[in-house]
Amino acid sequence: MEKSKYAPVINTENHDTISMLVLDKNGNLSGGCTTSGAAWKMHGRVGDSPIIGAGLFLDNEVGAAAATGLGEAVIRTAGSAMVVELMRQGKSPYDACKEIVERIFNKHKNHRDMPYLQVGFIALNNKGEHGAYSLRAGFNFAIHDEKDGNRMEDAKFKMTWDD
Ligand code: GLY
Repeated sequence: MEKSKYAPVINTENHDTISMLVLDKNGNLSGGCTTSGAAWKMHGRVGDSPIIGAGLFLDNEVGAAAATGLGEAVIRTAGSAMVVELMRQGKSPYDACKEIVERIFNKHKNHRDMPYLQVGFIALNNKGEHGAYSLRAGFNFAIHDEKDGNRMEDAKFKMTWDD
């Protein structure tokens, strides 16, 4: 604040966003998310998590999506709403997440100057298919379904932290 330098930093040590997407036995979707926000954030900063369409979005006719990572990057693309729109157009949850992460990658050409930039999406369609994708390695998520019970999955990613 003394230097008027606004530089929110997201990495694995200083924030934790948790989102949950649920499809019930009647075919109804629900979702929620919670976050600590970004460390050293400017007073009044609003991240993506409390903004419907950015950190979380669902449409019972299509599916649901949620994000974690640098909220500014997710807000800039209306990320979760766009993932749901891509599923509406026929993309799988995985392909929809991947396309929006690619969009975020392309909007941050200077990602080498942003070594802290991480964004990840999870998505679930109304058929019960799920997918996830992240910009950088290390994004994992928990799944539960009647067939296979509880398990953890590692999301595929665009780049490592050294790229
Ligand atoms: N994704 C959490 C935040 O940027 O606030």
